[in-house]
Amino acid sequence: MKASKFLRVAALTAALAGVGVAAQAQTVLKIGYATSPTSHYGVGSTVFCEEISKGTQGRYTCQQFPSGALGGEREMIESVQLGTLDLVNTSTGPLGNFVPEVKIVDIPFLFRDYDHARKVMDGQIGQNLLAKMQDKGLVGLAWTENGFRHMTNNVRPIVQASDANGLKMRTMENKVHMDGYKTFGILPTPMAFPELFTALQQGTVDGQENPIPVILAAKFAQVQKHLSLTNHVYSPAVIILSPSVWSQLSDADKQVFLNAAKAASAAQRKKVNDDEANGIALLRKDGMQVVEQVNGESFRQAITPAYAEYAKEFGADNIRAIQAVQ
Ligand code: PAF
Repeated sequence: MKASKFLRVAALTAALAGVGVAAQAQTVLKIGYATSPTSHYGVGSTVFCEEISKGTQGRYTCQQFPSGALGGEREMIESVQLGTLDLVNTSTGPLGNFVPEVKIVDIPFLFRDYDHARKVMDGQIGQNLLAKMQDKGLVGLAWTENGFRHMTNNVRPIVQASDANGLKMRTMENKVHMDGYKTFGILPTPMAFPELFTALQQGTVDGQENPIPVILAAKFAQVQKHLSLTNHVYSPAVIILSPSVWSQLSDADKQVFLNAAKAASAAQRKKVNDDEANGIALLRKDGMQVVEQVNGESFRQAITPAYAEYAKEFGADNIRAIQAVQ
């Protein structure tokens, strides 16, 4: 274990109490995520940190780096791979650039609803994808969640796919998304999330797409007029640990970390549910004009040509296997 990777503090509590017990090392792990501490990522990461501390009697604790303090998600994943960051709670947006098999879950209109998405990610398909991360120097502990993505913009309300035509929209650095969005006539502009607020403010792009918890946490109501509940793609998230930490853990501690990630996932998903339930009213109060009844069928029809390409890349059977999960 390299000293530079961890802040190691010798906790000599027993010795200080006058008991002749060996010093217990405490390891402080750095965890990064893109949004604020009170957001869904903050809620999930806090539960993860509390659980590992509880489960290891304080031998492992965390220092949280929210709000993209350590860079965009692509940079944070890279840092975890290199071992310069211990943990990241990240969407799959840039993850397919590291673990290509994961890209399949970024296909627009693949998942019917939250229940379907969560069953797939927690079931065999999702678990196989977590296992694939190991080959690429990443330890996927559990799927958390970002949520279903919706479109915002400053030009016009989007009710059907043709309304999105010609809009310059920031997307994640994700080719699966970009290929799909092009079929709606959108001009996709990939950009790291930390640059997005300013880009919207300055009109570099007309809009963006993100789940309600992100739209709330990033205060996009300040810089975006229209919100349409397009639900056009599910955005999974995952807690990833650096293999350099994983390889140092005892079997019992590994189990504590896995359980902690599951508890984090439950808490993060609950926060997504709560934000979906309460967030629209808050965004309206902050001045956004919200289209709740979007013509989803028009988007599904528009994206048909991209599905032919997805089938070639990922295999029609694999796509059908995800769709078939009940
Ligand atoms: O739009 C994105 O890049 C992601 O949804 C975000 C906000 C970083 C959360 O994962």
